Amino acid sequence: MFREKPCVCVFLFTCVLQLSHTWSVNNFLMTGPKAYLIYSSSVAAGAQSGIEECKYQFAWDRWNCPERALQLSSHGGLRSANRETAFVHAISSAGVMYTLTRNCSLGDFDNCGCDDSRNGQLGGQGWLWGGCSDNVGFGEAISKQFVDALETGQDARAAMNLHNNEAGRKAVKGTMKRTCKCHGVSGSCTTQTCWLQLPEFREVGAHLKEKYHAALKVDLLQGAGNSAAGRGAIADTFRSISTRELVHLEDSPDYCLENKTLGLLGTEGRECLRRGRALGRWERRSCRRLCGDCGLAVEERRAETVSSCNCKFHWCCAVRCEQCRRRITKYFCSRAERPRGGAAHKAGRKP
Ligand SMILES: *[C@@H]1O[C@H](CO)[C@@H](O)[C@H](O)[C@H]1NC(C)=O
Ligand SMILES: *[C@@H]1O[C@H](CO)[C@@H](O)[C@H](O)[C@H]1NC(C)=O
Repeated sequence: MFREKPCVCVFLFTCVLQLSHTWSVNNFLMTGPKAYLIYSSSVAAGAQSGIEECKYQFAWDRWNCPERALQLSSHGGLRSANRETAFVHAISSAGVMYTLTRNCSLGDFDNCGCDDSRNGQLGGQGWLWGGCSDNVGFGEAISKQFVDALETGQDARAAMNLHNNEAGRKAVKGTMKRTCKCHGVSGSCTTQTCWLQLPEFREVGAHLKEKYHAALKVDLLQGAGNSAAGRGAIADTFRSISTRELVHLEDSPDYCLENKTLGLLGTEGRECLRRGRALGRWERRSCRRLCGDCGLAVEERRAETVSSCNCKFHWCCAVRCEQCRRRITKYFCSRAERPRGGAAHKAGRKP
């Protein structure tokens, strides 16, 4: 299914498939071409799950992880270096590491299994390492070789991308959960053995979304050229920033308006949420964020849905249902009839 995509390195997973044809040994010296083939389907699946998580995390944001944003390699001319770029790199790299680690635990690879390197050692008050910890060390090493190899530049953008790839891997490690089992007479739990487990990938996504909001901007685009001194300055700057944090070089547009050159769709026509069960604070404010703050009106559209309901089983053997009509209201951003104050939108807001 990935093969049908045009042969451009747009998504990480097409990159991976493409690279498997134009194989370059230098990129994967440590694993070698054979290992490369063993892992490539996990890498592709991991990159895909990263993209799906990106779309989930940004479903109610002005920037909603459009396909155009998912260009990860340096092949594609125009590369942005804003906080959204940072998130895309981190979540893709986290997805790849996560999938490789989980597949390892599932026994998909001959050369890898549980991480039991600490088993038997004291872990903390009243517990010992034991059982089968997910082997993140393995996932980290392999994913690093695949994902970081896509970055071939040596400039500030390349350094930023590598930093954010690393932040994605740190996010997987940092969200792992300790799970324990009690031992002792009839479950008295006098001692416990514990191991580390991957969380749901959703949790990694939520963690990185917080890091996205707190992303640090570094000023490196001007000045630091491609000279040795410039590269030294870039390396020094990035070394001083924790690899748990996302980093960007440029400010983001506000994502209100369409810009075809940049592949931005704008928010006109987007759906937003108003009321509803279990809406979080972020979702409840989506109409203001997507429409109001962009100078657009919120348009209510009512619709009726018809579905089967009150189904009863009749002896024997038929199920009869009623047709229930339910009114639903949806909200969309639309161009206001009367532009307020003539301004198309309020500029300068954070996305
Ligand atoms: C690893 O996991 C992914 C998705 O969870 C799956 O598509 C893939 O086939 C798995 N196994 C291997 C050996 O790649
Ligand atoms: C789209 O963005 C580019 C680059 O920032 C800018 O030069 C151009 O004017 C924008 N186009 C529109 C229609 O806003």
